Formats: sequence, structure tokens, C-alpha cells
Amino acid sequence: MSYRVAELVNSDASLISRRCWSSQAVYELEKRAIFGRAWLFLGHESQITKPGDFVQAYMCETPIILCRGHDGNVHANINSCTHRGLPVCRADHGNAKRFICPYHSWSYSIEGDLVSIPQEKELRTQPDKSQLGLKRVPRVESWRGMIFGSFDEAIIPLEDYLGDMRFYLDAFFERFPGGIEFMGAPHRWQINANWKLPVENQLGDVNHGAFLHAAIIPREAQDTIAELGYSVVTAPGHGATFRLMPEGSPVDEMAWGMEAMGSLLGGQEVQEYLREVQAQAAQRVGDIRSRMKGLTYGIYPNLSFLWSNTSFKVSHPRGPGKVEYWSWAVVPADAPDSVKKILRTNYSSFFGPAGILEQEDSEVWSQQFLGSKIDFADDRPYFYGLGLGEEGPHADLPGMVSVTANEHYARQFFIRWRDELQAVEDVA
Ligand code: FES
Ligand SMILES: [Fe+2]
Repeated sequence: MSYRVAELVNSDASLISRRCWSSQAVYELEKRAIFGRAWLFLGHESQITKPGDFVQAYMCETPIILCRGHDGNVHANINSCTHRGLPVCRADHGNAKRFICPYHSWSYSIEGDLVSIPQEKELRTQPDKSQLGLKRVPRVESWRGMIFGSFDEAIIPLEDYLGDMRFYLDAFFERFPGGIEFMGAPHRWQINANWKLPVENQLGDVNHGAFLHAAIIPREAQDTIAELGYSVVTAPGHGATFRLMPEGSPVDEMAWGMEAMGSLLGGQEVQEYLREVQAQAAQRVGDIRSRMKGLTYGIYPNLSFLWSNTSFKVSHPRGPGKVEYWSWAVVPADAPDSVKKILRTNYSSFFGPAGILEQEDSEVWSQQFLGSKIDFADDRPYFYGLGLGEEGPHADLPGMVSVTANEHYARQFFIRWRDELQAVEDVA
């Protein structure tokens, strides 16, 4: 059955069709309309510091090699040989002098240029190797060490794309004089879910915590989220949730991470470290951002930042009903190693494939996909209308602001999603 995009999301995005989540045709449109055009997260500068350092990445289903070149720049190339299409790099990460295809041994420089064709010496004519390099991602830019790529040569600069999300990201990044680093390789695993639900979950859905995670997250923490929590949309598809602690709150209540670190996982050293960071916070990021206790962030289309358990996550689509989820532990670059390890344990205890919260999330995401495939229920689209129109501007916080129960973050995501799909559909 075919659908027009306009039939799937109503005008204010308070009703969302099940087919947005389950239709193969919609997925094919998403690949072109969204993943072919947006800035997509590829990795972090801290992962590739020396020439030849590389990590694998994906732009939707397209495999990418992200590599530090001899020129010191970051190069992003599609991991597919220009002879017959094999991947020229099989390792997840490492340091390479060349990328050599296993089939006929064509070799490529770390910047992606074709260097040698072994068969050449037996032939009278030589192909023009300058035209046979790996296919480059045409735009690559980074901000605060976060590297993004886009297939759209004409896309706006990354900083403009991130816009006011930089204000909220810096509430975390700028707390630490050395910035942040990605610690180790990502967790990667597959979930039988649509890619948009993990995104929506991290973009602003902190409301499920009190219910789905009731056995794990203490009631008092949930109460403070309802009481002090904000949901902000800086631009459609970008959003942040956090608690804004009252002025004059004790350092232990204000400091990010203390809830987890005050319990079994923590220890004197890490608690002292978090207090020290908090003591410097107002000076480094200003009063209002020093009082933010971040929860979850989302950057359109598929990057999430979970501040509370310090991880970055990317939801890579693998069809309408499968996602390959990548999740990195993120730590302050200049924290002592012992503190970094505890912070990473805090992340992996709760999130990642074996994390006790992540498993609960993954299970409902899979169930949502099954619900979205149900036949004979097309007249029961999902209700996205909670708090419709109750959001508004705030004197100190950029973007549209509301309580966390308001689903404006999800409506705005789907308005952008619908408009971008329509723009491609109309020319198809
Ligand atoms: S497919 Fe890569 S060298 Fe032939
Ligand atoms: Fe959750």
C-alpha cells in the first residue's frame, strides 16, 4: 500500500501514523530525504589523534572510514573499493598506513586516494588513478571535537545547524578545562526497533522513567524531575532535558552524577572530583548553566547525548524494523584515570547492551515496532498531543521551553521529518 507523507503526520503533529514506523516505502524516503542531507555524527577527535588513526562509522547504512590524514585533517570516505565494491577496511578501529582491498589488492592512502593497482604493470594502458579514489563524504566539519559529515555539499555550516544546542552542550563540555573524550570503542548491538524511537526517547522522553524504570530509579529522583525538569526544543528535532536546580542548592545536590556516585558505584575520590567540577562550574559556564543537571539531549536526526550517564549514542537504521545502536562512554579528558574508569562503569551498568535501564528501553522499543505493524488499526494513529501549545519562550533558556510531560520535542521532530520527506516526495 502506498501513502502520501501528508497523511502520516497531521498538521500540528499531534497524530502520528503507525506507518511512519513500519513502512518500507517510508524508510526508503527517509534514506534520501534525511540521511542523504543532514549533518550526521561520525565520531570524536579524541578517537583519532595521530595520522593513520581510524574508526569505522556509518551514515545510515553507508559504511564510512573516518581517518586522520598526514595533513592533520579528518577524512571521511565511503568504505567501498572503486573496483568491485568490497570494504577496504575490515577493522573497527586502529592505525593504518594504507587501506588495501582484499580482492585484487588495490591500495588507498589514508586520505582515500587510490595509490596502486597491482595489475597495472601487466597492461599497456594505465587507468587514471586520480579519478578512482574512495568516494569522499563531501562535507566534514567538527565542533568541540565532535565530527559530523554530510552528503549534501550545500548544507549550512555545522555550527549553524547545531544552533542553540551549543548553549546546552557547552553546559557539559565547557565544565571541563580539557573538554571531553570518548573512552574506548563503542558498544554496538542490534535492536528490532525503528530508529526513530531511541531518538525520540533521548530527545525528551524522560517521563517514562517513573514507570518503565520504576524498579531502578529512586522515586525521589523522579519527583525532582517532575518538579525541576525542563524540556527545551532549540530547533525542530533538536532538544534537551535537564533539571534546573534552585539557586543556593548544596553542591552535592547540584553536581551532575552525584545521585549515582553517592551510592554503591561511587567512592570518595569520584565524589570529590564531581564536587570540584561543580565548584568551578559557575565560573566556567555561568550561573544558569552551572545549575543544570542534564538528563538527555537529541541532535537531529539520530544523535543522542545522555548526560546523566555520560554517553553518546547513534541510532543507525537498518530497515524500518531494525536499528544498530552505537553507544560510547564519554568522560572529562582531564579527569584522573581512576575517576574515568568509575564514570565508565556508571555508564555501562545502566546503559549499553547489558545496562539495566537500556534493556528495559530496548524491550519496549521492540514492542513499539510490533504495535506499529498491526493491520486494521490505521484509524488509530498514535497520540502525540500531550501539552500541545503549552510550550513557550523563557528569559534565560534559548528555545521553546516546557515541563517535561509536554511532548513538544516529539511533535517538532515529526514536523521537520514530515516536511523533509515531503520535499523529496514532491520531486519523486
Ligand atoms: S574489489 Fe577491490 S581490488 Fe578488486
Ligand atoms: Fe529509559
